[in-house]
Amino acid sequence: NQVEAIRKDLLKWYQKSKRDLPWRSKLIKGIDDEELNNRGYRVWVSEIMLQQTRVATVIDYYNAWMNKWPTIKDLASATLDQVNQVWAGLGYYRRAKNLHLGAQFVLEKCKGKIPRSAKGLLEIPGIGPYTAGAIASIAFGLREPLVDGNVIRVLCRLRSIGSNPAKSQTTKHLWQIAGDLVDPVEPGDFNQSLMELGATLCSVTSPQCGACPINQYCQAYTEFKQTQSTPKPEP
Ligand code: ADE
Repeated sequence: NQVEAIRKDLLKWYQKSKRDLPWRSKLIKGIDDEELNNRGYRVWVSEIMLQQTRVATVIDYYNAWMNKWPTIKDLASATLDQVNQVWAGLGYYRRAKNLHLGAQFVLEKCKGKIPRSAKGLLEIPGIGPYTAGAIASIAFGLREPLVDGNVIRVLCRLRSIGSNPAKSQTTKHLWQIAGDLVDPVEPGDFNQSLMELGATLCSVTSPQCGACPINQYCQAYTEFKQTQSTPKPEP
């Protein structure tokens, strides 16, 4: 079964090559509700910071943020001025404002408990399908897909999709593919492995296909080898 082989090979590659980042903590079974809520909060903050900013820059900001507001309740009680001060330098200040608004929404409308489903997460201001999928899968271990720019590139190559990924029909198709692929046991690690692959080996201009853990399943790579011509152009 090809899908199972892709999951297994990607997860194996991810375990040995993943970066050790402060928001990546192992999902431990049996943690209490408060601890789980805090996992959700930490993944939420990290994913919003990572949206337009590279990992190396995010790390210091993330640590400063967590020192100042270790829980979502702490964040909800902060002022927007304080939030903007800690965010200063990261740019796209709307992200900070949305995080603050989102935290207040969870405190006021959800009794401080971050929704434990992608659907529930989508109701929080500032959380779209990508962030909902990231929190659900990475923090809560739920089998939800996610699609970001890196995942789009990986999936378009894997399945040789040439149509414009900005088209809404293609976007729908990509979410469908991601949903079929996502590992049922380790959805968070699986989703991160797709993003990590896109951020490293499966790069925009010079993909290192020879080192790719799933090159044998990759349609773009297979077609490229058959024709010995240039690889598929950027989606
Ligand atoms: N880019 C954004 N979020 C990421 C994550 N959790 N892992 C790898 N790359 C990412």
